[in-house]
Amino acid sequence: MTADLTIQLAPQNKKGLLLNNPVMTASGTFGFGTEYSEFFDIQQLGAIICKGTFLNPREGNPQPRLVETASGVINSIGLQGIGVQALIEEKAPVWAGWKVPVIVNIAGDTVEEYWKVARALEGVAGVSGIEVNISCPNVKCSGAAFGINAETAAQVTRAVRTATTLPVIVKLTPMAANISEIAQEVEKAGADAISLINTFKGMAIDIQKRKPLIGNIAGGLSGPAIKPMALALVYEVAGAVSVPVIGCGGITTAKDALEFIMAGASAIQVGSASFANPRASLDVLEGMREFMEKERITNLKEIIGAARKK
Ligand SMILES: Cc1cc2nc3c(=O)[nH]c(=O)nc-3n(C[C@H](O)[C@H](O)[C@H](O)COP(=O)(O)O)c2cc1C
Repeated sequence: MTADLTIQLAPQNKKGLLLNNPVMTASGTFGFGTEYSEFFDIQQLGAIICKGTFLNPREGNPQPRLVETASGVINSIGLQGIGVQALIEEKAPVWAGWKVPVIVNIAGDTVEEYWKVARALEGVAGVSGIEVNISCPNVKCSGAAFGINAETAAQVTRAVRTATTLPVIVKLTPMAANISEIAQEVEKAGADAISLINTFKGMAIDIQKRKPLIGNIAGGLSGPAIKPMALALVYEVAGAVSVPVIGCGGITTAKDALEFIMAGASAIQVGSASFANPRASLDVLEGMREFMEKERITNLKEIIGAARKK
Protein backbone atom coordinates (compact mmCIF):
# COMPACT_ATOMS: atom_id res chain seq x y z
CA MET A 1 0.00 0.00 0.00
CA THR A 2 1.38 3.40 -0.90
CA ALA A 3 -0.25 6.29 0.86
CA ASP A 4 -1.59 9.23 -1.15
CA LEU A 5 0.35 12.32 -0.05
CA THR A 6 -0.75 14.64 -2.84
CA ILE A 7 -2.11 17.99 -1.82
CA GLN A 8 -3.70 20.90 -3.69
CA LEU A 9 -2.53 24.18 -2.15
CA ALA A 10 -4.44 26.59 -4.38
CA PRO A 11 -7.89 25.05 -4.89
CA GLN A 12 -9.42 28.40 -5.83
CA ASN A 13 -6.77 29.26 -8.42
CA LYS A 14 -7.25 28.30 -12.09
CA LYS A 15 -3.64 27.11 -12.39
CA GLY A 16 -3.75 25.34 -9.01
CA LEU A 17 -0.70 24.24 -7.05
CA LEU A 18 -0.78 20.46 -6.86
CA LEU A 19 2.08 18.94 -4.89
CA ASN A 20 3.09 15.26 -4.99
CA ASN A 21 3.63 15.46 -1.23
CA PRO A 22 3.41 18.12 1.48
CA VAL A 23 7.15 18.61 2.13
CA MET A 24 8.54 21.94 0.95
CA THR A 25 11.82 23.70 1.67
CA ALA A 26 11.64 27.09 3.39
CA SER A 27 12.83 30.26 1.69
CA GLY A 28 16.42 31.31 2.35
CA THR A 29 17.45 27.89 3.63
CA PHE A 30 17.65 25.96 0.35
CA GLY A 31 19.17 28.47 -2.07
CA PHE A 32 17.68 28.09 -5.54
CA GLY A 33 17.41 24.32 -5.12
CA THR A 34 20.38 23.70 -7.43
CA GLU A 35 22.83 23.92 -4.50
CA TYR A 36 21.25 20.85 -2.88
CA SER A 37 20.93 18.55 -5.88
CA GLU A 38 24.34 16.98 -5.13
CA PHE A 39 23.09 15.76 -1.72
CA PHE A 40 19.91 13.96 -2.81
CA ASP A 41 17.26 13.74 -5.51
CA ILE A 42 15.48 17.05 -4.86
CA GLN A 43 12.80 16.12 -7.43
CA GLN A 44 11.26 13.91 -4.75
CA LEU A 45 10.21 16.93 -2.69
CA GLY A 46 6.71 18.44 -2.73
CA ALA A 47 7.99 21.91 -3.67
CA ILE A 48 11.02 24.15 -3.37
CA ILE A 49 10.74 27.73 -2.22
CA CYS A 50 13.69 29.77 -3.36
CA LYS A 51 15.55 32.62 -1.69
CA GLY A 52 13.72 35.91 -1.14
CA THR A 53 13.83 38.09 -4.26
CA PHE A 54 13.51 41.86 -4.57
CA LEU A 55 13.21 43.84 -7.77
CA ASN A 56 16.92 44.72 -7.85
CA PRO A 57 20.07 42.93 -6.66
CA ARG A 58 20.88 43.60 -2.98
CA GLU A 59 23.98 43.31 -0.84
CA GLY A 60 22.27 42.37 2.42
CA ASN A 61 23.19 43.31 5.98
CA PRO A 62 26.64 43.76 7.59
CA GLN A 63 28.57 40.66 8.78
CA PRO A 64 28.33 38.61 10.93
CA ARG A 65 24.92 37.47 9.78
CA LEU A 66 24.48 34.06 11.32
CA VAL A 67 24.95 32.91 14.91
CA GLU A 68 24.05 29.61 16.55
CA THR A 69 22.05 29.69 19.77
CA ALA A 70 20.59 27.01 22.03
CA SER A 71 18.34 24.97 19.72
CA GLY A 72 18.31 27.62 17.06
CA VAL A 73 20.04 30.07 14.78
CA ILE A 74 19.80 33.84 14.49
CA ASN A 75 20.17 35.23 10.97
CA SER A 76 20.34 38.72 9.62
CA ILE A 77 20.99 38.07 5.94
CA GLY A 78 18.96 41.18 5.06
CA LEU A 79 17.52 39.58 1.97
CA GLN A 80 20.69 39.61 -0.07
CA GLY A 81 19.80 38.57 -3.60
CA ILE A 82 20.33 38.63 -7.33
CA GLY A 83 17.14 40.52 -8.20
CA VAL A 84 14.16 39.28 -10.17
CA GLN A 85 15.58 39.79 -13.68
CA ALA A 86 18.65 37.61 -13.05
CA LEU A 87 16.39 35.02 -11.42
CA ILE A 88 14.22 34.91 -14.56
CA GLU A 89 17.21 34.67 -16.91
CA GLU A 90 19.51 32.34 -14.94
CA LYS A 91 17.41 30.23 -12.54
CA ALA A 92 13.92 29.81 -14.04
CA PRO A 93 15.16 28.05 -17.24
CA VAL A 94 16.75 25.38 -15.02
CA TRP A 95 13.55 24.98 -12.96
CA ALA A 96 11.48 24.67 -16.14
CA GLY A 97 13.04 21.23 -16.68
CA TRP A 98 12.27 20.02 -13.16
CA LYS A 99 9.44 17.81 -11.94
CA VAL A 100 9.38 19.53 -8.54
CA PRO A 101 7.47 22.84 -8.57
CA VAL A 102 9.47 25.92 -7.59
CA ILE A 103 7.79 28.77 -5.76
CA VAL A 104 9.51 32.16 -5.78
CA ASN A 105 9.61 34.01 -2.44
CA ILE A 106 9.26 37.74 -3.11
CA ALA A 107 9.89 40.84 -1.04
CA GLY A 108 9.69 44.61 -1.39
CA ASP A 109 10.34 47.88 0.37
CA THR A 110 7.07 49.32 -0.99
CA VAL A 111 3.73 47.93 -2.15
CA GLU A 112 4.66 48.96 -5.70
CA GLU A 113 7.86 46.91 -5.52
CA TYR A 114 5.92 43.78 -4.54
CA TRP A 115 3.60 44.41 -7.51
CA LYS A 116 6.54 44.83 -9.90
CA VAL A 117 8.31 41.66 -8.77
CA ALA A 118 5.10 39.63 -9.03
CA ARG A 119 4.31 41.08 -12.46
CA ALA A 120 7.81 40.29 -13.73
CA LEU A 121 7.25 36.63 -12.82
CA GLU A 122 3.93 36.34 -14.66
CA GLY A 123 4.14 33.74 -17.43
CA VAL A 124 7.75 32.76 -16.64
CA ALA A 125 8.27 29.04 -17.35
CA GLY A 126 9.64 27.23 -14.30
CA VAL A 127 7.78 29.38 -11.74
CA SER A 128 4.78 27.58 -10.24
CA GLY A 129 3.76 30.07 -7.58
CA ILE A 130 4.68 33.08 -5.50
CA GLU A 131 5.27 33.23 -1.75
CA VAL A 132 4.98 36.78 -0.44
CA ASN A 133 7.27 37.61 2.47
CA ILE A 134 5.52 40.39 4.39
CA SER A 135 8.14 40.53 7.14
CA CYS A 136 10.07 43.25 5.29
CA PRO A 137 10.16 46.75 6.73
CA ASN A 138 7.79 49.17 5.03
CA VAL A 139 10.09 52.04 4.09
CA LYS A 140 7.16 54.41 3.55
CA CYS A 141 5.65 53.72 6.96
CA SER A 142 8.22 54.09 9.76
CA GLY A 143 10.01 50.85 8.91
CA ALA A 144 7.50 48.56 10.66
CA ALA A 145 7.04 45.24 8.86
CA PHE A 146 4.11 45.09 6.40
CA GLY A 147 3.03 41.91 8.12
CA ILE A 148 2.42 43.27 11.62
CA ASN A 149 -0.50 45.40 10.46
CA ALA A 150 -3.67 43.92 8.92
CA GLU A 151 -4.16 46.85 6.55
CA THR A 152 -0.64 46.88 5.08
CA ALA A 153 -0.61 43.07 4.92
CA ALA A 154 -3.85 43.21 2.89
CA GLN A 155 -2.49 46.00 0.65
CA VAL A 156 0.53 43.93 -0.31
CA THR A 157 -1.62 40.85 -0.91
CA ARG A 158 -4.04 42.81 -3.11
CA ALA A 159 -1.17 44.28 -5.13
CA VAL A 160 0.37 40.85 -5.76
CA ARG A 161 -3.05 39.37 -6.54
CA THR A 162 -3.67 41.95 -9.25
CA ALA A 163 -0.16 41.47 -10.68
CA THR A 164 -0.29 37.72 -11.24
CA THR A 165 -2.46 34.76 -12.14
CA LEU A 166 -0.01 32.43 -10.35
CA PRO A 167 -1.01 30.86 -7.03
CA VAL A 168 -0.19 33.33 -4.23
CA ILE A 169 0.92 32.17 -0.80
CA VAL A 170 1.28 34.92 1.82
CA LYS A 171 3.84 34.22 4.55
CA LEU A 172 3.00 35.64 7.97
CA THR A 173 5.33 36.94 10.63
CA PRO A 174 4.93 35.77 14.25
CA MET A 175 5.77 39.31 15.40
CA ALA A 176 2.16 40.43 14.74
CA ALA A 177 -0.02 41.04 17.79
CA ASN A 178 -3.07 39.35 16.25
CA ILE A 179 -1.96 36.86 13.64
CA SER A 180 -5.46 35.43 13.03
CA GLU A 181 -6.84 38.85 12.11
CA ILE A 182 -3.96 39.35 9.68
CA ALA A 183 -4.54 35.90 8.19
CA GLN A 184 -8.23 36.68 7.65
CA GLU A 185 -7.48 40.02 5.98
CA VAL A 186 -4.87 38.42 3.74
CA GLU A 187 -7.38 35.70 2.78
CA LYS A 188 -9.99 38.35 1.94
CA ALA A 189 -7.40 40.20 -0.15
CA GLY A 190 -6.98 37.18 -2.41
CA ALA A 191 -4.31 34.85 -1.00
CA ASP A 192 -4.65 31.27 -2.28
CA ALA A 193 -2.81 29.90 0.77
CA ILE A 194 -1.11 31.17 3.91
CA SER A 195 2.27 30.06 5.21
CA LEU A 196 3.62 30.68 8.70
CA ILE A 197 5.87 31.38 10.45
CA ASN A 198 8.82 33.53 9.57
CA THR A 199 11.47 34.12 12.27
CA PHE A 200 11.12 35.75 15.71
CA LYS A 201 13.32 38.75 16.53
CA GLY A 202 16.32 37.61 18.55
CA MET A 203 19.86 38.57 19.55
CA ALA A 204 23.03 37.25 21.18
CA ILE A 205 25.97 39.09 22.78
CA ASP A 206 29.71 38.30 22.81
CA ILE A 207 30.55 38.88 26.48
CA GLN A 208 34.32 39.18 25.82
CA LYS A 209 33.90 41.89 23.18
CA ARG A 210 30.81 43.21 24.94
CA LYS A 211 29.11 43.56 21.59
CA PRO A 212 26.14 42.00 19.77
CA LEU A 213 27.14 38.87 17.83
CA ILE A 214 25.08 40.00 14.83
CA GLY A 215 26.32 42.89 12.69
CA ASN A 216 22.81 44.31 12.53
CA ILE A 217 22.44 43.92 16.36
CA ALA A 218 19.34 41.72 16.17
CA GLY A 219 18.17 39.14 13.64
CA GLY A 220 15.56 36.44 13.15
CA LEU A 221 15.50 33.35 15.36
CA SER A 222 14.66 30.03 13.70
CA GLY A 223 15.15 26.33 14.41
CA PRO A 224 13.82 23.89 17.04
CA ALA A 225 13.66 26.71 19.63
CA ILE A 226 10.64 28.23 17.86
CA LYS A 227 8.72 25.03 17.06
CA PRO A 228 6.20 25.03 19.93
CA MET A 229 5.36 28.70 19.27
CA ALA A 230 5.07 28.10 15.53
CA LEU A 231 2.80 25.11 16.15
CA ALA A 232 0.46 27.12 18.38
CA LEU A 233 0.22 29.88 15.77
CA VAL A 234 -0.45 27.40 12.94
CA TYR A 235 -3.19 25.79 15.04
CA GLU A 236 -4.73 29.22 15.64
CA VAL A 237 -4.56 30.40 12.02
CA ALA A 238 -5.84 27.08 10.61
CA GLY A 239 -8.96 27.64 12.71
CA ALA A 240 -9.40 31.21 11.44
CA VAL A 241 -9.19 30.84 7.64
CA SER A 242 -10.52 28.44 5.01
CA VAL A 243 -7.60 28.60 2.54
CA PRO A 244 -4.84 25.96 2.95
CA VAL A 245 -2.27 26.70 5.66
CA ILE A 246 1.41 25.78 5.32
CA GLY A 247 3.28 25.21 8.60
CA CYS A 248 6.87 26.22 9.18
CA GLY A 249 9.13 26.78 12.17
CA GLY A 250 11.66 24.42 13.71
CA ILE A 251 10.60 21.35 11.74
CA THR A 252 13.51 18.90 11.93
CA THR A 253 11.90 15.45 12.00
CA ALA A 254 8.87 13.66 10.56
CA LYS A 255 7.29 13.83 14.02
CA ASP A 256 7.57 17.63 13.97
CA ALA A 257 6.01 17.75 10.51
CA LEU A 258 3.14 15.46 11.51
CA GLU A 259 2.39 17.69 14.51
CA PHE A 260 1.92 20.66 12.15
CA ILE A 261 -0.28 18.57 9.83
CA MET A 262 -2.43 17.45 12.76
CA ALA A 263 -2.66 21.08 13.94
CA GLY A 264 -4.30 21.88 10.60
CA ALA A 265 -1.48 22.53 8.11
CA SER A 266 -1.99 21.06 4.64
CA ALA A 267 1.76 21.15 3.95
CA ILE A 268 4.97 22.01 5.80
CA GLN A 269 8.31 23.70 5.16
CA VAL A 270 11.69 22.51 6.40
CA GLY A 271 14.02 25.47 7.05
CA SER A 272 17.15 25.71 9.22
CA ALA A 273 17.25 21.92 9.62
CA SER A 274 18.78 21.75 6.11
CA PHE A 275 21.91 23.57 7.38
CA ALA A 276 22.88 20.75 9.75
CA ASN A 277 21.55 18.00 7.51
CA PRO A 278 21.16 18.87 3.81
CA ARG A 279 18.87 15.83 3.41
CA ALA A 280 16.57 16.92 6.26
CA SER A 281 13.57 17.58 3.99
CA LEU A 282 13.82 14.14 2.37
CA ASP A 283 14.28 12.48 5.77
CA VAL A 284 11.11 14.24 6.96
CA LEU A 285 9.20 13.00 3.89
CA GLU A 286 10.41 9.41 4.28
CA GLY A 287 9.56 9.47 8.00
CA MET A 288 6.06 10.74 7.25
CA ARG A 289 5.53 7.93 4.73
CA GLU A 290 6.72 5.35 7.27
CA PHE A 291 4.39 6.69 9.95
CA MET A 292 1.42 6.65 7.62
CA GLU A 293 2.15 3.12 6.52
CA LYS A 294 2.50 1.90 10.12
CA GLU A 295 -0.70 3.67 11.15
CA ARG A 296 -2.51 2.48 8.02
CA ILE A 297 -3.29 6.01 6.88
CA THR A 298 -3.96 5.82 3.16
CA ASN A 299 -4.44 9.52 2.48
CA LEU A 300 -2.72 12.58 4.00
CA LYS A 301 -6.09 14.34 4.16
CA GLU A 302 -7.19 11.88 6.86
CA ILE A 303 -4.78 13.48 9.32
CA ILE A 304 -4.84 17.16 8.35
CA GLY A 305 -6.27 18.89 11.41
CA ALA A 306 -6.70 15.56 13.24
CA ALA A 307 -5.69 17.15 16.55
CA ARG A 308 -8.47 19.71 16.18
CA LYS A 309 -11.31 17.24 16.01
CA LYS A 310 -13.24 16.63 19.22
C1 LIG B 1 19.39 32.14 6.70
C2 LIG B 1 17.92 32.31 6.56
C3 LIG B 1 17.41 33.06 5.49
C4 LIG B 1 16.03 33.25 5.34
N1 LIG B 1 15.56 33.97 4.27
C5 LIG B 1 14.21 34.11 4.09
C6 LIG B 1 13.69 34.80 2.96
O1 LIG B 1 14.44 35.26 2.09
N2 LIG B 1 12.34 34.95 2.85
C7 LIG B 1 11.47 34.42 3.79
O2 LIG B 1 10.26 34.56 3.64
N3 LIG B 1 11.94 33.72 4.85
C8 LIG B 1 13.28 33.57 5.03
N4 LIG B 1 13.75 32.86 6.12
C9 LIG B 1 12.80 32.27 7.08
C10 LIG B 1 12.56 30.78 6.81
O3 LIG B 1 12.04 30.57 5.53
C11 LIG B 1 11.62 30.18 7.88
O4 LIG B 1 10.39 30.85 7.82
C12 LIG B 1 12.19 30.29 9.28
O5 LIG B 1 13.58 30.04 9.28
C13 LIG B 1 11.51 29.33 10.26
O6 LIG B 1 11.69 28.00 9.87
P1 LIG B 1 12.84 27.04 10.49
O7 LIG B 1 12.77 27.19 11.98
O8 LIG B 1 12.50 25.69 10.01
O9 LIG B 1 14.13 27.54 9.95
C14 LIG B 1 15.13 32.67 6.29
C15 LIG B 1 15.65 31.91 7.35
C16 LIG B 1 17.02 31.72 7.51
C17 LIG B 1 17.52 30.89 8.66
